[in-house]
Amino acid sequence: MFDASPQPPIVAAEAAPAASRAARQLLPPGTGPFVGKVAVVTGSESGIGRETARALCQQGAAVVLNGRQPERLEQTRLDFAAAGFAVASCVADVTDYAACEQLVATAIQAFGQLDILVTNASISQRAYFADMQPEVFRQVLDSNVYGTVYPLKAALPYLTRTRGSVTFISSISALNGMPSGSAYCAGKAAVANLAHTLRLELAHTGIHFGVVHIGFTQNDPEKRVLSATGEPVPIAHRPPRWQKSQAEVAALILGHIRRRRSRTVLSALGKLIVLVHTYLPRLGDWIVLTTTRRLRHFYE
Ligand SMILES: NC(=O)c1ccc[n+]([C@@H]2O[C@H](COP(=O)([O-])OP(=O)(O)OC[C@H]3O[C@@H](n4cnc5c(N)ncnc54)[C@H](OP(=O)(O)O)[C@@H]3O)[C@@H](O)[C@H]2O)c1
Repeated sequence: MFDASPQPPIVAAEAAPAASRAARQLLPPGTGPFVGKVAVVTGSESGIGRETARALCQQGAAVVLNGRQPERLEQTRLDFAAAGFAVASCVADVTDYAACEQLVATAIQAFGQLDILVTNASISQRAYFADMQPEVFRQVLDSNVYGTVYPLKAALPYLTRTRGSVTFISSISALNGMPSGSAYCAGKAAVANLAHTLRLELAHTGIHFGVVHIGFTQNDPEKRVLSATGEPVPIAHRPPRWQKSQAEVAALILGHIRRRRSRTVLSALGKLIVLVHTYLPRLGDWIVLTTTRRLRHFYE
């Protein structure tokens, strides 16, 4: 059951339909596998979402950008429009169902259809479970679970018409537990299971439901995650050599969408986690337990 939030969407849709249609017509026809497709990418005012949206545009799609910060979202939209991309935007908190309806309405008003949904918006954490305020746990879990469910629920009728594609952005930390990531790991694991369930339940619609488990990726310098008390704090440092660039990750996400894959696990570490978790789960736990203190920066 999905209750529409009693609150109005944070800000109404900001699409500029006529301008967006005109921009789309400027694209040379037949220049990419996504020509003629319309995509919504949640949490695309920054980070991996922005680069995924950019890659979709570069390959011919019209894209609706989304985020919660009007100024940052507008700046991203202007950058995309200046590059000649077909783009619209909608400020919407994806944990608010009514706002998600506005987000989908933006795509329909601006571009007339919806073919691709990428649920990328997410809040992460840097906090141990014992210290976490319950409200912070809920916030992280909601952003990952309802922030996936609500946009999909609003988009489903339109995706059914186009036999479209849905990609949930998850993490390699959904493949196994990870200290200091309780609500985040639980949320990311939940959406992986949700994708499987929907693939079975909605097989007759022809919609593609897939999950991408992303590994360590370069972050925007201003990226923040939540502390145990809900303060925005910088994300833990990870050696750059372990990280893919956002553009590399975006290219892999597009490959996943194009091939309508059920599951894509990025990075060698991700693939190793799948193997160990499946065949040698006790060894996996032993490695984590014996390295937690020494590699604190890695787990946090
Ligand atoms: N970076 C990594 O190493 C890594 C690893 C594994 C998985 N991932 C996954 O990849 C995805 C993107 O990560 P990222 O590193 O690009 O994160 P990011 O830089 O923090 O970007 C997340 C985006 O989501 C938006 N957002 C958050 N909550 C939202 C909400 N309720 N409604 C609408 N927008 C919301 C944020 O905007 P505002 O907060 O400004 O509104 C931001 O634009 C996430 O799903 C993440 O879990 C990332």
